[in-house]
Amino acid sequence: MASLKDEIKRRRTFAVIAHPDAGKTTLTEKLLLFGGAIHVAGAVKSNKIKKTATSDFMEIERQRGISVATSVMEFEYQGSKINILDTPGHEDFAEDTYRTLTAVDAVIIVIDGAKGVESQTRKLMNVCRMRSTPVMVFVNKLDRPCKDPFELLEEIEQELQIAVRPLSFPIGSGPSFQGVYNIYDQSLALFKEVDRQYIAESIHLTLDDPELGEYIGAGNAAELEENLDMVSELFEPFDRDLYLQGLLAPVFFGSAVNNFGVRELLETFIRIAPSPHAAPTESRIVEATEEKMTGFVFKIHANMDPNHRDRLAFLKICSGTFERGKNYLHVRSGKQMKFSSPSVFLAEKKSVVDVAYAGDIVGLHDTGNFKIGDTFTEGEKLKFTGIPSFAPEMFRYIENADPQKFKQLAKGIDQLMDEGVAQLFTSSLNGRKIIGTVGALQFEVIQYRLEHEYSAKCRWEPIAIHKACWIESDNAEQLADFKRRKFTNMAVDKHGRDVFLADTSYALQLAIEKFPDIRFKFTSEF
Ligand code: G4P
Repeated sequence: MASLKDEIKRRRTFAVIAHPDAGKTTLTEKLLLFGGAIHVAGAVKSNKIKKTATSDFMEIERQRGISVATSVMEFEYQGSKINILDTPGHEDFAEDTYRTLTAVDAVIIVIDGAKGVESQTRKLMNVCRMRSTPVMVFVNKLDRPCKDPFELLEEIEQELQIAVRPLSFPIGSGPSFQGVYNIYDQSLALFKEVDRQYIAESIHLTLDDPELGEYIGAGNAAELEENLDMVSELFEPFDRDLYLQGLLAPVFFGSAVNNFGVRELLETFIRIAPSPHAAPTESRIVEATEEKMTGFVFKIHANMDPNHRDRLAFLKICSGTFERGKNYLHVRSGKQMKFSSPSVFLAEKKSVVDVAYAGDIVGLHDTGNFKIGDTFTEGEKLKFTGIPSFAPEMFRYIENADPQKFKQLAKGIDQLMDEGVAQLFTSSLNGRKIIGTVGALQFEVIQYRLEHEYSAKCRWEPIAIHKACWIESDNAEQLADFKRRKFTNMAVDKHGRDVFLADTSYALQLAIEKFPDIRFKFTSEF
């Protein structure tokens, strides 16, 4: 039997992230096809909620169904165990994506070659940078007319604030697209149409091979040579350590829909991406290879059946081996718990797993006791850190619209907040409850789910708040003074922490300047 160390070493846990429409779903599907996890194209459904469908709640339910099925997809490839964590496509669910990024060891960013770096990509990269997550870039849609490769590389470097190193280089794009030269292996992958399907024909060819011109035309061969000279002039040789530190992104070019350049991406990824690494807790660093199991919940999914309020909690195993039926300590409650049917996901199939290792994700059945950030161990009282909660930007008062259902409403709000759907604040001024979200869609989701899962009705009322931020200070006097003066703008979050609700960006700026001893925090932790 393989040792724990070997099992961990062969694991690669990552997420594919992209601006909507860049090709994340398509690329994920091709990766799964390689791994044999699925056999037909179209098995991975896009979890996009189209803007036009926001009022269509069936669409939201459909999306929730899909995102359970595709939350984690695992497969084996060339001796490696690959775990791909899916992230929601709609930017109103960006917080869910940020939390998912706390459970991965690496990231592949997909960029549309015609559009370049887009807004969502930039935001997601900020989260990767905060955590020094190693990133690899796949420039997609080369079969369409794209921006100049050097222009794209510069844009990625500037916009994503990371050094880049192309490991492959395209020859043309759109109708003139000939293929990709793999700098790492010195091989040419030709983009060829056979039976109206594009295929990649890989040929080992060094640049000085006289046959190069025969394959791609003399003009293209000369241009490629020039471009590659420029690559070696402009970019340092690839340095894996810099990649692992999150400072350098290797870049690949291809076309996901045509399955072109995907194998090169996957095989390089397996070779250079990190295996599960150490994770910080409040008291110490946990190494992945420690014998004892530790892990944390990074995502909670409500059951799709409204008659049962059961949920599925996703546990990232940070160290050791997770075993079915074994007792684990739920650190927050101090209770021992065992799980008779922990699940893993193979594309659309969910199956019970007996043993899982550090790096893996298991789905745990939850009857409403877990929260995002909860830690499980074999007895040690640990708490993993770094699971972010971002300052929301949209706010509404939530009011009970059915006095008979007060309890149901309170319970529903409580559980939805535990799932990380939105954040709840209580105003110090009047005790009213305020819900803060990152996107407008969440208000509709909350209202719909309260009604369908908790038989409770809510009503929204407007409140003019620009931003909420957590405040802390070592200067008790200044803090008390601030809270007194800003009494009408103060609230507490679910954990009782002080929150300042700034009316305008100007008011926030002024407060920051006038109270230098107060720290205004725009992220907090679960
Ligand atoms: P997302 O998950 O990042 O949002 O993107 P998704 O994979 O759903 O792809 C968005 C659109 O881009 C899809 O077209 C998809 O077929 C197309 N696409 C993906 N990769 C490539 C590529 O390499 N070349 C070209 N030309 N197109 C690509 P759609 O019309 O929105 O959907 P569909 O009807 O084709 O599925």
